Amino acid sequence: MATNKELQAIRDVATPQGVGIQTKVYAAKARNAEIWDVEGNRYIDLAAGIAVCNTGHNHPDVVNAVKDQLDRFSHTCFQVAPYDVYVRLAERLNEIAPGNTPKKSIFLTTGAEAVENTIKIARRYTGRTAVISFTGAFHGRTMMAMALTGKVMPYKQGFGPFPAGVYHVPFPIEYHGISSEDSLAALNELFKADVEPERVAAIIVEPVQGEGGFYPAPDGFLQKLRDICDEHGIVLIADEIQTGFARTGKLFAVEHAGIEPDLMTMAKGLAGGFPLSGVVGKAEIMDSVHPGGLGGTFGGSPIGCAAAHAVLDIIEKDDLCGRAVSIGEQIRSWALELQSTTSCVGDIRINGAMSAIELVEDGDVDRPAADLTKAVAAEAADRGVITLTCGVRGNVIRFLPPLTIAEELLAEALTIIGDIIRRKS
Ligand SMILES: Cc1ncc(COP(=O)(O)O)c(C=O)c1O
Repeated sequence: MATNKELQAIRDVATPQGVGIQTKVYAAKARNAEIWDVEGNRYIDLAAGIAVCNTGHNHPDVVNAVKDQLDRFSHTCFQVAPYDVYVRLAERLNEIAPGNTPKKSIFLTTGAEAVENTIKIARRYTGRTAVISFTGAFHGRTMMAMALTGKVMPYKQGFGPFPAGVYHVPFPIEYHGISSEDSLAALNELFKADVEPERVAAIIVEPVQGEGGFYPAPDGFLQKLRDICDEHGIVLIADEIQTGFARTGKLFAVEHAGIEPDLMTMAKGLAGGFPLSGVVGKAEIMDSVHPGGLGGTFGGSPIGCAAAHAVLDIIEKDDLCGRAVSIGEQIRSWALELQSTTSCVGDIRINGAMSAIELVEDGDVDRPAADLTKAVAAEAADRGVITLTCGVRGNVIRFLPPLTIAEELLAEALTIIGDIIRRKS
């Protein structure tokens, strides 16, 4: 097999630079929380394919479910000849989605597509056009998802014009001096200055901002949004694409806030490594769209749906919500120790297994250490640990291991990262 370097040379010639890649680890095999590259080097995976393989790479139950489905059929198109794994998955998710209001579900392929569909549904239901999202938000790379995304570089630069009617409000980040009150005041101001609430179809929010930097919505904030949406007849959309499926210690992150969103996007962890996304929402809202208004050739692939059933079984059987909490606590004690012995760990954010450290110079929140962050992730890969960076300022190291990672393996990875940070800072 070719080496990493040889494959990278092909990559440079054959694929565009626009798809930025974070490591030069060309994968040959992956099992649970480890990846082996084409040269046989082994890596501990703290990325899980960006929060996708929550049940670990190639979980045998997922693989078997997919094999069984492949033996039956791989594609008929749900709109042409519907199938059991789709309708039963809908039934299952409707049952476990937060809140008591009757739900319905639609399945698609990517996260961005799920986001697009929530906006279509919210507009059709309300008969309104405007949509509000947050600065620092990431909702995907299609046109409307990009419009909703609250970060220009690299996601939006040069790609406009975007669909009209999208407004951004600052996301509350206490560490950066933006409180929930500030954010809600800005929303109020927006209602006065730019768009009256009666024209707003939806507010979309990540319960924990993902690409933006792993900032959780502060306590009470989502409830306030819920109240505002109820007051003005606005559809509240929770984007659970990165936070869903046990990642934060609950099946869905909004459960921490105890709210029931009107619509919820899901993707990534839903199908354990197979491309499947969905929108679960209040039945009355989901049913506001006319027949034929929703769907797609590959939407709700039988393979993905079969995998998703296995994923839901594993989450329950192996208490992966509990595992996510333990992973978060293991990262917390490591990060606190690192913080007390270096000056660069500005903030520690523990959201179960969606945790992060924000690196700054000399403990100064206003001096983000983006170069250090990049260098740490690069050296970690050289030393056998795959980890990702994120954040609007590029200075956050995020931890998204499979929830099935063994404690010892996580400890080994954290020791390596801690060692690199100590030496470089
Ligand atoms: C919160 C959130 N929404 C939407 C998306 C887009 O999902 P996809 O890349 O599958 O289109 C992502 C991907 O990172 C995400 O984290």
